[in-house]
Amino acid sequence: MPRKMDELEVAGRRVLLRLDLNVPLREWQVADDTRIRAAAPTVRALAHRGAVVVACSHLGRPKGKPDPKYSLAPVAPVLAELSGCPVRFAEDVVGERAHAAVKAAKPGEVVLLENLRFAPGEEANDADFARALAQLADVYVNDAFGAAHRAHASTAGVTRYFADKAAGPLMLAELAALSKVRDNPQRPLVVIAGGAKISGKLETLQALAQKADVLCLVGGLANTFLVAKGIGVGRSLVETDLVELARQILEQAQSRGTEVVLPADVVVAESPEAGEGQVVPVTAVPDNGMILDAGPQTVAAITSKVGSGTVFWNGPAGVFEKAPFAQGTLAIARALGESEAFTVVGGGESVEAVHLAGVAAKISHVSTGGGAALEFLAGATLPGVAALEA
Ligand code: 3PG
Repeated sequence: MPRKMDELEVAGRRVLLRLDLNVPLREWQVADDTRIRAAAPTVRALAHRGAVVVACSHLGRPKGKPDPKYSLAPVAPVLAELSGCPVRFAEDVVGERAHAAVKAAKPGEVVLLENLRFAPGEEANDADFARALAQLADVYVNDAFGAAHRAHASTAGVTRYFADKAAGPLMLAELAALSKVRDNPQRPLVVIAGGAKISGKLETLQALAQKADVLCLVGGLANTFLVAKGIGVGRSLVETDLVELARQILEQAQSRGTEVVLPADVVVAESPEAGEGQVVPVTAVPDNGMILDAGPQTVAAITSKVGSGTVFWNGPAGVFEKAPFAQGTLAIARALGESEAFTVVGGGESVEAVHLAGVAAKISHVSTGGGAALEFLAGATLPGVAALEA
């Protein structure tokens, strides 16, 4: 385990604090502040201990150059409000403005740097960029669990330039909760996987399927598995090049004795814009139809599995942002809220769903990491954690 932030001497020192403030923005406003809320106590703790907090994060995928759409500027006032600390926004990452802002900041104050991914060196884990970042501070704390699966300059390369480095409390809480799922889960271990984007997810799902007792597949992700079983899905989202991998995962699950729950019935419509859908057996999806939610039988099959043991959920069961197709996702969220199991929910959309269903407080652990949580559970070493231990 990495060192804890509390063990570091920070009074009067500049602390480079890597956070995951990758939040959705709509018209220059923070649309969901979950990650800022989760980061705020760490910022406050450091500021109250007399540090100059140099906070940094990525937001979106601006591809190595400045793009106002992905500016962290709208995050600064929200961070100030939620942490209760004065936050000064620097309009560049490691340039003159960042240096000036850090120089002007007093102990107890916070500087938020502009989006790290505006610099090409961030994602390239470039040594010069990492060194430039390190020059802004004396001590390094990584509390960005959501970005710990990325070997980028601010999560990996930068640690080389600090004698004093540690993991923040959010990072440690995430590792503790997810270790409980990964290393010694109370059985049965039920994994519910859904969501629209599956590339990059299937490999981790393959590893997770080796540990799980029950694997429930929903949402866009399930379609590729249905196709692998020879079931027609009409015009639904399918990742054709992953059908073979999906087939392998189903075979491996079968030979290991992992129970796989696939949709038995689904809600179909001509498009997500349709005002309502129709429930049909999964084998009767019309050629021009799109699967947009799980049907009631499927939901019942899944919710009957989540009462005890350990449940990990990542990815919605349908297009839940549209009310007619939200029932499956909300029912899963509610079932987890009522469950006696150790429940962990990860990934932006599933987290949004538990908030929408009003059950977030009843979930054992709501993770701020999507990809990071999946990779950790699948057994990967997270570069952001390894770099703190090196
Ligand atoms: C996330 O949203 O999962 C993290 O912030 C990582 O973002 P990324 O997938 O763009 O690296």
